[in-house]
Amino acid sequence: MLAKWAVLCALCVPLLPAQESSMAAAPSGLRCEYLADPVGIDVPQPRFSWVLEHAARGERQTAYQILVSLKPDVPAGDQWDSGKVSSDQPVHVVYAGKPVASGQTYYWKVRYWDSGDHASPYSAAGRFETGLLESADWKAKWIGGANQMRKEFTLPARPVRARAYVAGLGYYELRINGHKVGDHMLDPAWTTYDKRVLYAVYDITGRLRPGANAVGVMLGEGWFKSRALRMQIHAELEGGQSVDVATDGSWKTMAGPIQSDSVYNGEVYDARLETPGWDRAGFDDAHWKAASLIDGPKGILSAQMMPPIRIVDTIAPVKMTSTHPGVYIYDLGQNISGVVEMRVRGPRGTRVQLRHAELLYDDGTLNVENLRAAKATDVYILRGDGSLEVYQPRFTYHGFRYVELAGYPGAPKFDALRAKVVHSDVRPTGGFASSKQILNQIQRNIVWGIQDNLHSVPTDCNQRDERMGWMADAHLYAETAMLNFDMPAFYTNFLRDIHDVQGADGTVTDTVPHRYGSRPADPAWGMAYPLLTWYMYEYYGDRRILEQHFAGVKAWTDYLRTRSHDGILDYSYYGDWVPIERTPGNLVSTFCYYWSADLVSRMAGILGKGGDAEAYHKLAVEIKDAFNARFLNQATGVYGTGTQTAQILPLFLNMVPGNRRGGVFGALRDDLVYTRNTHLTTGILGTKYLFPLLTGTGNSDLAYELATQTTYPSWGYMVENGATTLWELWQNKTGPSMNSHNHPMFGSLGAWFYNALAGINPDAAKPGFERVVIAPEVVRDLKWAAGSLDTIRGTVASSWSRSDNGLRLEVTIPVGSLAEVRIPELGLAPVTLSESGSAIWKNGKYQSGPAGVAGLKESDGTLVVEIGSGKYAFALARE
Ligand code: BGC
Repeated sequence: MLAKWAVLCALCVPLLPAQESSMAAAPSGLRCEYLADPVGIDVPQPRFSWVLEHAARGERQTAYQILVSLKPDVPAGDQWDSGKVSSDQPVHVVYAGKPVASGQTYYWKVRYWDSGDHASPYSAAGRFETGLLESADWKAKWIGGANQMRKEFTLPARPVRARAYVAGLGYYELRINGHKVGDHMLDPAWTTYDKRVLYAVYDITGRLRPGANAVGVMLGEGWFKSRALRMQIHAELEGGQSVDVATDGSWKTMAGPIQSDSVYNGEVYDARLETPGWDRAGFDDAHWKAASLIDGPKGILSAQMMPPIRIVDTIAPVKMTSTHPGVYIYDLGQNISGVVEMRVRGPRGTRVQLRHAELLYDDGTLNVENLRAAKATDVYILRGDGSLEVYQPRFTYHGFRYVELAGYPGAPKFDALRAKVVHSDVRPTGGFASSKQILNQIQRNIVWGIQDNLHSVPTDCNQRDERMGWMADAHLYAETAMLNFDMPAFYTNFLRDIHDVQGADGTVTDTVPHRYGSRPADPAWGMAYPLLTWYMYEYYGDRRILEQHFAGVKAWTDYLRTRSHDGILDYSYYGDWVPIERTPGNLVSTFCYYWSADLVSRMAGILGKGGDAEAYHKLAVEIKDAFNARFLNQATGVYGTGTQTAQILPLFLNMVPGNRRGGVFGALRDDLVYTRNTHLTTGILGTKYLFPLLTGTGNSDLAYELATQTTYPSWGYMVENGATTLWELWQNKTGPSMNSHNHPMFGSLGAWFYNALAGINPDAAKPGFERVVIAPEVVRDLKWAAGSLDTIRGTVASSWSRSDNGLRLEVTIPVGSLAEVRIPELGLAPVTLSESGSAIWKNGKYQSGPAGVAGLKESDGTLVVEIGSGKYAFALARE
């Protein structure tokens, strides 16, 4: 690695004056297994990543040193001192110290050496804490009973460190000494419970006290559709003693105020049945029953190593109307995932009902037709003790913009309701904006649509009786998700979910966990397995993921092979789903089969599995030939039935024979521009690959026209019709058919905003943004565009604005990364290019000078600048 850097350095990045090298600052953004200070990880060799900070441009890491200790203040690593390790990689450094033990907190810090071999200061200490690494560490037993469980226990001394390890199915709320513990909601993440159940770890030191304590757990049905609890507490006390409390037959159980709860249908809560103090010590539970020991789910327990579902925001309604006496409609102005928090005072036993919907009828009443069987109704029955009662359901969530409130005592105030936005709490990491307002609104709808559908698995929709991890939907919006949110831990978990459903025959399923759809998956749905694995590599440089899933991805591809005949894969259920014009299913399936084989070959190459790399490359070539022989009509020169998608798929993957490419592309362009008057007829697959195809072939102007359309079918059409998220269908439907108004699969377009308009692209040859290609497309009437992205190596940003005579482009590249910046000359040649005021291109020649700028050449009307890390301001002008 060092040698490679040395070559790169000698070639491009000018050496820095010696005094600048001391500008290496302490690394920031410490991550362990992608998480900041995780509590509860069960990876025996966790990986560390950090962000390099340096005041000079063109800088990088040449070596690092990591210290891992059991105490925060220990200066030398008592668990691991890596020593000075020559490496240019600040990401995915594998722990190699003493074996990690269960239930331990480890502190770590890191420093690095820059290009001048000057050491940075050490970072601030990061932390990671292990969960229960061995199944024998679990003393607790699975218990069942009613929806409330409790246990009292005594601590003979003050607790100095206490943890709770909780697996509570379907959903749980953990309470200690009268307080909710932690801020997770709808926990744990949904898994294939017969394979795996996730547990969370909480630091409860501050919640316990010497003497009598009580733990109470509320359980909901969630996706498990039943209730089961396995949890244990380990408390270390002053004086060195420790106390363990674990679920067993001595726990007590009793039905609580939640009368029923269902993900789809909502919750019924009777506050008259509350038993204040049940989660505190000293409560009289004589009439509670003993919990029963149950078999519980068969799955192994794994630590939940991903951002939990939380309440991430609170929204006040923008409007309240009344359609009938006593019935009020609140409008949030935004389609969200979440629940309502209601404030109410009134007589005991008053039954208040909240119904949720995405749509209203013209007369202003609630339209719930597209929710199908999901009732999406919460009911609260008042305690009525004269106090203000605040209700927020625990074990359900809804997809809604409108809430109908009925049965409220008296006239509700406008602020009687507030909405809580609930989803997997993935940190927003990106931003995109431009001078074109319709694009900004589409971007907003995409971001809302995606976050609304991150519910521990990537769901298809959030409102009707589905909300499944439909696999095509998952891979189609994955790149957009990765460009807008901190996704690697989420997708690491989902890939393991996929692996958990894989059969011995290599099959995966349409939905993961598998509840709806078929086994084997439609080939375009099963594509999620190879593609998500690949995206994790491309966007985060995660080689371990490739190693972990290579066999699984290969087995899926081998399964497809058993279903193929002469290179053609005939089976298909959905294909290019919800298009305007249908494309033959076997064409789509064979395209996916080709791509799977190709990805297996690439992954094998990266992992040094030469035999597989070659064998699957050969297979891919055979499939490609079969695809062309079968689907490319020699007479008409187009694929399949001539649909846009049938041309887009083979063009996108470069499957078209060279002499046919022009003709196939021409037919696609003619259909888009003339036959359809610059509109799409594509379904979810064709739509995703059309945009990079157009940009890759120099047709970004056309891509831009399609992206900014406001007439049917287009994203702008959704916006013009009031959408605040993305629809499932191009058509504007509001009846009982499948027409969710929050389906993120067409959000694939959002990746193109970053890749083409802002121009930020990862380079799979140096994955994880170690090398970045900045290639903004300066299209049509777009005056400016800006994108920024917190990658695992730090911030990558690109923003440009044009004038009649030139272009300004500001670029940020993280320390340790290199970039190729492609600046279009915009037909202004001859041009000059300057960087922060110094000319670097003049009279058709490169002029070296500014630090970090390593080279520049002209190619096909584009100035291609090689840069190292730092912030740059380029200005292109007519000479
Ligand atoms: C889902 C889709 C899914 C499809 C399978 C639908 O009901 O909502 O998004 O991919 O079924 O064709």
